[in-house]
Order: sequence, then C-alpha cells, then structure tokens
Amino acid sequence: MEEPGDILKADHREIKKLLSAFDGMAAFILQKDSLPDEDLEKAFAVAVEFADKCHHGKEEKALFPHISKASPDVGAEMARRLTSDHAAFRKLVGTMLELVPNATVKKESRAVLAKQLGTYTRLLTEHIKVEEKKLIPEVEKSIEPDQRGEISEQFELIEEETMGHGAHERYVTIIDQLAGLYGKKA
Ligand SMILES: [Fe+2]
Ligand SMILES: [Fe+2]
Repeated sequence: MEEPGDILKADHREIKKLLSAFDGMAAFILQKDSLPDEDLEKAFAVAVEFADKCHHGKEEKALFPHISKASPDVGAEMARRLTSDHAAFRKLVGTMLELVPNATVKKESRAVLAKQLGTYTRLLTEHIKVEEKKLIPEVEKSIEPDQRGEISEQFELIEEETMGHGAHERYVTIIDQLAGLYGKKA
C-alpha cells in the first residue's frame, strides 16, 4: 500500500505546476492588459475541483482526524492551522472568481486579480512546504503502518467520490497543458 504521505506529495507536485501556471497568468494579465479567459477558467476549475475539493478534502476528511488523535499536541495543532489555511484559500479563490467579470472590463480589477493570484500561489506554496517538512514526517512518526494503509484507502475513496473515476488523469493533463503555456520554463 502506498504511503499517504507519498500520495499527498504526488498531488502537491501537480498543484505546484498549477501554481506556476497561475503565476504566469498573473504576469500575462499585467503585460497584455487582458485576461487569458478560457485558460484562467480552466485553471480555477482545477483549483476548485482538484486542489481544494479533492486534495484538501483528503487531508481534512481522512488525514487530519487520524493525526489529531495519534499526535494530540503537535499533530492536532498542525491540523487546525492547515484546516484554517484551506478555508482561507477557498475564500480567496471565491473572491477571485467573483472578480473575473469586472476584471474582464476594468484595468483596476485586473491589477487586483493579478495581485490576488500572486497571494494565492505564495501562500499555497508555503502551506505545501509545511505539510511536506512537518506534517508528513509527523504522520510517519505517530501513525502505525496499518492505519496509514487505511488512510491511503480512504484517499482513494475520496478521490472517486469527489471527482469520479479517471478524473485525476484528466486534471493532470489540463495542468500539464496550462503549465506548458504559462508555467516557469525549466
Ligand atoms: Fe493542505
Ligand atoms: Fe496538501
């Protein structure tokens, strides 16, 4: 059985590519003084469905309850903080989506949107770092291997429930396209 930490890290690699595309889109918006309409819409759909509902869903529904029990001080505190980060990201994505119609027609709204995209990518990058450097090691230290196996099984169920069968691969393809168009060139 795959380690839950490895499953999360694989998701993080995709999310980081998405964030790199968002950064590129923020630069595009400022340079071209217009929105990359369809691509921006696609990227937000990935942020909502893949990054939030599915990935943050796995952490909130399957991992955080276990780590809070297995590590009531350090683990539970981390789970609380990371959950409130997720709520802040959800709110920020909602705010940006509401801003899109105005940003289509108004320069000032475009500047605000570009700035918020930058805030989102910066904060989510930090969040992922904390999970990889602190949360995942704590999971491996304080949760027994058979329970970690159960968490990985729950991750799979959450993926099927939130996105449906085969959706993960479809989102990865969209992320690769967006990262190819807007992401940092290696
Ligand atoms: Fe998270
Ligand atoms: Fe995460």
